[in-house]
Amino acid sequence: MKPIYLDYNSTTPISATVAQAMAQCYQKGYLNPASQHRPGQEARLVLEKLRSEIIDMLGGVSTGMRTDRLILTSGGTESNNLAISGLARAARDASGAQRIIFSAIEHPSVIGIAHYLATQGFEIDTIAVDAHGVCDLCDLAAKLDAESSDSVAVVSIMAANNETGVIQPIQSAAQMCREKGIYFHTDAVQMVGKVDVNFSTLGADCLTFTAHKFHGPRGVGGLLVRNGIELTPLIYGGFQQMGTRPGTEDVALTTGLHQALLEHQQSPERDAEIKRLRDQLETSLLAIAPGSVINGSGAFRMSHTINISFPGINRQALLLAADFAGLAISTGSACASGSSDPSHVIIAMGASEEVIEGSIRISLGATTSQQEIDDSLTRFQQVIDRLSTL
Ligand SMILES: Cc1ncc(COP(=O)(O)O)c(C=O)c1O
Repeated sequence: MKPIYLDYNSTTPISATVAQAMAQCYQKGYLNPASQHRPGQEARLVLEKLRSEIIDMLGGVSTGMRTDRLILTSGGTESNNLAISGLARAARDASGAQRIIFSAIEHPSVIGIAHYLATQGFEIDTIAVDAHGVCDLCDLAAKLDAESSDSVAVVSIMAANNETGVIQPIQSAAQMCREKGIYFHTDAVQMVGKVDVNFSTLGADCLTFTAHKFHGPRGVGGLLVRNGIELTPLIYGGFQQMGTRPGTEDVALTTGLHQALLEHQQSPERDAEIKRLRDQLETSLLAIAPGSVINGSGAFRMSHTINISFPGINRQALLLAADFAGLAISTGSACASGSSDPSHVIIAMGASEEVIEGSIRISLGATTSQQEIDDSLTRFQQVIDRLSTL
């Protein structure tokens, strides 16, 4: 039985043209872009061209006096850590501000660094979400208006949630923070390369993305940083990337990131097709499993995600049975034992115990086909029928 991959929010297969562009790059044998000799300078020229085109594709400012910066990192986790820690420490050094506010549904890479910073003297606070999984801007406003608002160092809200696909009101949140002179970061990992993202219009000070979520290579991501903002580094070493993220930059990985973004831009029809397949699967699943619930369905969602609860069916049992039936799906967040904890996202939405226990994520990507959706429905039906009779 051919496995059907429906876990694109976790990672995506690298596209053939991305792999080809990277292979050509390796064949050219670019050396260290930080070297002063000619081969090094050749690599530097290629890298800086890629960097400036990536900034352009993401709607940042790549030329002139007010140029935004693209810091290349190892991926979304590092970009989130660098943004939160870098902005929080810079704000504390400048004004003594020491509160970090983030939404209750952030990825563990945001929650993790915030909790670490709490051990270093920072205070942390979360913004609530409503029943559809959308950040409550009244809660954010109350936190920013509080007497202690001048102590807020940074606010972080993701652009789209990785478990539900729910899109967050980033532009409004960024505006609210800007009016108070507070740094605002967004984790746009589940949005960049899937729909068009415009850094300038969104108004965030820093924006995280990672190539492997949109058919690029694993091991490379970026942090867009608004012109004029200095981040305190996470790691220390050489002068690469102006010391903010030292370490030798890799031309081939950056080529893969660039090519994957380019492919997204050159395929404007891709998102509509993914939405068509997602809606078809979602409607059919609701029909074969009466009583099932789509988490986040009352909000604007990314086209590639379904978060569904089959009440009465445990998510871990469903995941294992689905895997056995050749369906690669996921539960909320994997824990150290390889099992899964109940999703903090579905819990934050105030869902019932039954919905929390039964929630799984199905996610589609550019390589999902109609045949796979048709076949997956048959397999889901068999799995659900079997588990319902236990
Ligand atoms: C919303 C979000 N942020 C950050 C990350 C981490 O990205 P990476 O795997 O590149 O470290 C992920 C990956 O699952 C994600 O979905």
